Amino acid sequence: MNQRKPFVVANWKMNGDLSLVNTVSARLQDETGDLPEILICPPVLFLANFPKSAHYQLGAQNLSEHTAGAFTGEISAVMLAELGATYVIVGHSERRTLFGETNEQVAQKVNQAIAAGLTPILCVGETLEQRTEEKTFSVLAEQLDAVYSAQPQWLADSVVAYEPVWAIGTGQTASPEQVQEVHEFIRQHLQRYNSTEASKLRIIYGGSVNASNSRALFAQMDVDGALVGGASLKATEFVAICLSAKGE
Ligand code: PGA
Repeated sequence: MNQRKPFVVANWKMNGDLSLVNTVSARLQDETGDLPEILICPPVLFLANFPKSAHYQLGAQNLSEHTAGAFTGEISAVMLAELGATYVIVGHSERRTLFGETNEQVAQKVNQAIAAGLTPILCVGETLEQRTEEKTFSVLAEQLDAVYSAQPQWLADSVVAYEPVWAIGTGQTASPEQVQEVHEFIRQHLQRYNSTEASKLRIIYGGSVNASNSRALFAQMDVDGALVGGASLKATEFVAICLSAKGE
């Protein structure tokens, strides 16, 4: 068992409605089992509809790389913080591939988040092609270095999410051994910047996590939690994943 506090994150993506807000918040609020730290990242307009609770925190799925100004449709880090968000997902592979986010933009977004007092959850991950070509570690190193090489102090204020692109929304989870191998690589790679902070850093896994596979993933030495997409839209399953992070 490591000393890092387990962390389970729900990424609703562009799904859910007010009824799901009510179901999930009530279900978590009423839970009497031993819960890990839980973060819900709904579509941002629902943030204000979640009742305050000691059982979960709220986060956003994206933010602008700019501070303020004429950026139609964008939402700043400060606005998210004002709405009650404490974390923000940055550089999710859907943002990188569907919306063309670059490593440089991702680094700017991390900067904005930290400046506003939000903790960025930096997503990194390789495509199936990159894995097949044995480029997984070099792709991850590039994604990590784009954020931390110039600003190693950000490590102390971050969470990293390993999300192999081929495992997201596909039902094809990476095996616990594959995940451990990559998490260990990420931690070792970041040790060059700050070895103490790298050992404290929470590295969570995302990609088809569900109530049947979460326990085996959480049992891995360097897996400190999960970023859950599809299964976070089912309240009962999501709570079961959360409880499995604490061994229940
Ligand atoms: P999934 O999504 O659990 O539906 O695979 C994970 C994610 O994209 O964060």
